[in-house]
Amino acid sequence: MIVVTTPTGQIGSQLVRQLLDQDKDVRVVVRDASRLDDTVRRRVETIDGSHDDPAVLDKALPGAEALSWLVPPNPRAPSAEEHYLGFARTGAAAIARHDVGHEELGRPVAYRRVSMDDYASLLRARGADDQAIKDVTEAFAAQDHGIYDADWATAKPTSTDFRTWCREVLKPAADARA
Ligand SMILES: NC(=O)c1ccc[n+]([C@@H]2O[C@H](COP(=O)([O-])OP(=O)(O)OC[C@H]3O[C@@H](n4cnc5c(N)ncnc54)[C@H](OP(=O)(O)O)[C@@H]3O)[C@@H](O)[C@H]2O)c1
Repeated sequence: MIVVTTPTGQIGSQLVRQLLDQDKDVRVVVRDASRLDDTVRRRVETIDGSHDDPAVLDKALPGAEALSWLVPPNPRAPSAEEHYLGFARTGAAAIARHDVGHEELGRPVAYRRVSMDDYASLLRARGADDQAIKDVTEAFAAQDHGIYDADWATAKPTSTDFRTWCREVLKPAADARA
């Protein structure tokens, strides 16, 4: 049994369809089952509610071999961090309670942070070109320096709209590389 959250969303709905195409048993956690396609609703088990509710997860997770977990968007959340952490904490506790997807590797696994230079060398050894290495390492460095930490509720967007940014920034950069 595979449990899928956000089954009415863009990602979840495609996943459910692909799993059903592979004849998998699918259980979905859904706030309003009438929003599922009829063909899907007939073939899945539905658990009503939201996956930030421990009681809902306690109905959804027994017997699950795998869980597809997506935190739904909430642009009105007062804090993005608390929104994601709230779902994550509830999900992690329920996954542990129901032992979902628990397998023994039989060997220890270590986490080791690699320096950006070592990571660049690794990418180079795998055939990445200089520009790709620069793009990826710059993106990771920006994440290290907190580019994702700005809270969407308090961030101050510039007045530049996406179309203007494409015209003034993206297109000249793409033309320069052509
Ligand atoms: N699409 C992408 O390319 C992409 C890329 C990266 C990350 N993501 C992230 O992945 C998540 C899902 O993306 P998506 O594009 O599939 O989203 P989507 O099409 O906007 O669908 C949102 C889904 O979340 C459900 N939902 C909303 N609020 C909920 C709540 N409080 N409790 C439970 N379910 C709730 C909706 O169900 P209802 O029918 O009940 O409203 C719907 O199934 C989002 O957080 C998005 O930011 C998406």
